Amino acid sequence: MRRKVIAGNWKMNMLPNETIGYIESLSKLVKDTENEVILCVPYTDLFYALMTAQGTNIKIGAQNMHFEEKGAYTGEISAKMLKSINVEYVIIGHSERRQYFAETDETVNKKIKASFANGLNPILCVGETLEQRESALAEEVITKQTRLALDGLDDELIDKVIIAYEPIWAIGTGKTATSDDANNAIKSIRNEIRKLYGDKVADNIIIQYGGSVKSSNAKELFETSDIDGGLVGGASLVPEEFAKIVNFNN
Ligand code: PGA
Repeated sequence: MRRKVIAGNWKMNMLPNETIGYIESLSKLVKDTENEVILCVPYTDLFYALMTAQGTNIKIGAQNMHFEEKGAYTGEISAKMLKSINVEYVIIGHSERRQYFAETDETVNKKIKASFANGLNPILCVGETLEQRESALAEEVITKQTRLALDGLDDELIDKVIIAYEPIWAIGTGKTATSDDANNAIKSIRNEIRKLYGDKVADNIIIQYGGSVKSSNAKELFETSDIDGGLVGGASLVPEEFAKIVNFNN
């Protein structure tokens, strides 16, 4: 049985003092869960989040990183820098980064490799636009994004990647994919992994759903056959609401 992994993606929200208060509240509300809990916070909150989460079951991640280790890349943060303060996870290739910051399948692939090379666990985001979905291209788009992101990675690392299937039309829009549609899309990603890397990897790899997940729809989504938890944006900003999502099976 695969574990369920529920990750919050705060995006560009929350200040350090809010981070401390949030994690103090959340840690009490999720302390008994068997699910894995991750918060991906802005760079400026990482240190405070890591300090406050010590001794709790909450793990801390970043939302992006550069693939180079160091050098003349003004404004960027490397995997090595994140690892040096004990960050454990990093979101790679979120659709907002692909859309607004020119991330490509190639940079996503380089970032996945650099994250592992530095001991970070990547959360790889893939997802189709509304136009692609309406042209029946969703499956082709998400399996291709997955293939290119994992290209050339050592086989034993593949099932350490967490994949988040996030249909772009469902992110921040209040429109959630139906649990059947989300489950089917995730099955197609898992099948692609099965074709490329075999049964064991495909059966182990965690694939989350993201896009307007909230406490009212989490249970239905996360209890399908192939959805192994969620990447949660807006609904992760309030500890009580995020805790209900984490505790969907309690
Ligand atoms: P949302 O965002 O839950 O606000 O739709 C999800 C995400 O972008 O990771």
